[in-house]
Amino acid sequence: MKERILVTGGTGYIGSHTVVELQNNGYDVVIVDNLSNSRAEVVDNIEKITGIRPAFEKVDCLDYEKLDEVFTKYPGIKGIIHFAASKAVGESVQKPLLYYRNNLVSLINLLELMPKHGVSGIIFSSSCTVYGQPDKLPVTEEAPIKKAESPYGNTKQINEEIIRDTVASGSPIHAILLRYFNPIGAHPTALIGELPNGVPQNLVPYLTQTAIGIREKLTVFGDNYNTPDGSCIRDYIYVVDLAKAHVIAMHRILDDKQKDKVEVFNIGTGRGLSVLELIHSFEAATGVKLNYQIGARRAGDIEQVWADPAYANKELGWTADTSIEDTLRSAWNWQLKLREEGIQ
Ligand code: UFG
Repeated sequence: MKERILVTGGTGYIGSHTVVELQNNGYDVVIVDNLSNSRAEVVDNIEKITGIRPAFEKVDCLDYEKLDEVFTKYPGIKGIIHFAASKAVGESVQKPLLYYRNNLVSLINLLELMPKHGVSGIIFSSSCTVYGQPDKLPVTEEAPIKKAESPYGNTKQINEEIIRDTVASGSPIHAILLRYFNPIGAHPTALIGELPNGVPQNLVPYLTQTAIGIREKLTVFGDNYNTPDGSCIRDYIYVVDLAKAHVIAMHRILDDKQKDKVEVFNIGTGRGLSVLELIHSFEAATGVKLNYQIGARRAGDIEQVWADPAYANKELGWTADTSIEDTLRSAWNWQLKLREEGIQ
């Protein structure tokens, strides 16, 4: 029988790609999403890709009663992947309470409901933001947690602690915390991808919107950092590679292969790329010339961070192996598709 998995935030960017990979690997998926930052059509597009329509419930994870009903309506949920969260760093500085409520209460509700419904495994979407500016690069899972730069980052740190404390209290829960680096790109079918709300804050959506003419110019936030070309360095990971890591992590939880009740993995490529290098890779991969300028630094930016993914590579038998060119081409194809459909 197919094992049933609950995916919160399953119509969102990373969530939708993960639902596709879960279904491709034989899991029966139930999506819970309040559609606050995604569209219901994503469910249709997941069905177009996989040939299977995932169950979908428009429920806010803040609503304990409704969430409880979802577990009752879909008995036998074996594991949860918890993506649903607010994720705009800048907005979190303006609206900290919104971020603390959304991101903390959602997880607390799930952790309370899991034992009630006999669900033992949860995968949590964490972030490399927990490392701040690491002292050593590439950064391993052992690196110290640094004081968060934003309320958003703080919610990731606190949520990791909430999970650890809950497990330590004896709750019958196992967890895997996946610390994502910078997810980019879209599904090769261009049927799902990132759909930013308003003006994109993240580099790649801003870049593809500039390339297609929605934005006039991309600004590189600073070229005077202590890096080879002066621009910031990140570890950009293809969203489909990232999605596949969740499937492997879910097998691991359900098959009782964990070494500890709470495990942490860096989910990155191990390749640091500067903003300027990424722009040049985009131009080389797509043949599209990008209009960009060098601007001031952005407040709160980390100078450089990239993953040491060795532990995930070894323990999960997983590697992010898609090239940056293929990844950026997928982001561009997605932007072209949005134009074709008159969406953006
Ligand atoms: N950048 C630009 N111009 C832009 C947008 C971004 O030069 O218009 C640069 C940034 O300065 C940074 C890099 O591109 O050097 C990547 O920026 P993103 O905003 O795409 O990503 P961040 O690394 O800042 O943020 C990501 C996630 C957050 C997470 C954070 C943790 O989007 O959710 O990593 O480091 F909190």
